[in-house]
Amino acid sequence: MALSQSGSTRDHWSSRSAFILAAIGSAVGLGNLWRFPAEAGANGGGAFVLFYIGCVVLIGLPILLSETLIGRHGQASAPESVRRVASASRASPHWDILASMGVLAAFLILSFYCVVGGWVLYYIGVFFVDIFNSGISGGAFTDQSAEQIESLFPTMIGSAGWTVGLDALFLGITLYFVARGVSGGIEFVAKWLMPAFFVLLILITVYGAFGGAFNQTLEYLFTFEPEKLTGPIMLAALGQAFFSLSLGVAGMITYGSYVGRNVNLASTSALISGADTAVALIAGLCIFPIVFSAGLSVSAGPGLMFQTLPHAFQEMPFGSVVGLAFFVMVGFAALTSSVALLEVPVAWMIDKFRVVRVFSAIIVGFGALVLGALAALSFNVLSDWHPLDFIPIFEGQGFFDVLDGLTAKFFMPIGAILTALFIGWVADRKLVDIENGLGGALHLTWLALVRFVCPIALAAILVVGLLPEEEPAEAPDAAEQVEAE
Ligand code: PHE
Repeated sequence: MALSQSGSTRDHWSSRSAFILAAIGSAVGLGNLWRFPAEAGANGGGAFVLFYIGCVVLIGLPILLSETLIGRHGQASAPESVRRVASASRASPHWDILASMGVLAAFLILSFYCVVGGWVLYYIGVFFVDIFNSGISGGAFTDQSAEQIESLFPTMIGSAGWTVGLDALFLGITLYFVARGVSGGIEFVAKWLMPAFFVLLILITVYGAFGGAFNQTLEYLFTFEPEKLTGPIMLAALGQAFFSLSLGVAGMITYGSYVGRNVNLASTSALISGADTAVALIAGLCIFPIVFSAGLSVSAGPGLMFQTLPHAFQEMPFGSVVGLAFFVMVGFAALTSSVALLEVPVAWMIDKFRVVRVFSAIIVGFGALVLGALAALSFNVLSDWHPLDFIPIFEGQGFFDVLDGLTAKFFMPIGAILTALFIGWVADRKLVDIENGLGGALHLTWLALVRFVCPIALAAILVVGLLPEEEPAEAPDAAEQVEAE
């Protein structure tokens, strides 16, 4: 515990490494392991991936530093932190809109994120049962056909009971740790699960690298074909960069607010974004060789991880154990991120209404359960409900896809534009200089990125991404796949 500006005691990370692990835990999650390969596959590979990396370096990293800086200075929930920086800079307190929008976006993401977290729990269970039935030494699902394995996913998401029940279970686990607080709960999860995650990731990637199709993967992921880079693909890559780095939703402002003065935010931000991007690329290098060597489709969308991989585990020796390890690893990564997503609105509510943490967590959790259930049901009983049909880019999409698209393609980039304008042009120069931990040329580069490159590039990508275009046929989303069953 430490004293905050307002004089009250406020929970803090117990050390710099605790913050780093928690922030990496927030960043590394389903975004890297499930969303990145699915998006890269649906958007044509190389051009998307390289543009994504460009977005991380030139836009994501400067914004990440801006967000942690606001939080560390403010030492309060995200909107209150923005108001404190604004007041120290004699600027309007209404800049807090950038964080309030973020709190809302984090809540929306949490709702559908836990649905996917629930799918991960399902597969942990499936592999567990498989080991129980057929022992550990063979491949997974030894006596089942490829069709049977692949049908597991549509069958599960086609069931209202399974999807909503698993969503509730994953949300419940998240809630438990958030209710226990920053140093007691969130830090605990990050400290134990992130190192375990990295060990599992390396083991599985090394194992997969012997499976062949590695060169084809490299070519697929890193061949830059500029003609493929359309507006919507650029926006998708930008949205993916933000989603993966947990930006534009006040998450890093909130985590930054638990950081002590002794931490250098610049080097920490570089470490966080480096680790996050490395994990996304490793996930691609881990998943695509399996997809290619099994002759499966790269554009399977949300089903890529859940449908194609289990099928591939069948052919591996010890496949059921590898499968179990894989989904446990995904579950760990998902939990350290869902905890961050829940913490943002919970911290806001504690500050705003002066309620205790447990109460705040339960109320927010309940809201996320209602919204999440609607998202889960969009794969089955509500599959005909397309709430934003009147907006071209959301046409024909179910509630789950709408929540995902709305947050990654609207809320996150807009939150980031406002953050860049606020830190680049409005916030007091001295305050920013003191907080950011940069010196000399690096400081000037960062400033130029935040002032000019970020807002202009973000606005341009938003415009070209949202302009109606002659759509090439897109990969069917999971809801459509189920309908087709
Ligand atoms: N970055 C997380 C992931 O990649 C998701 C997330 C977004 C977490 C925003 C917190 C805030 O899975």
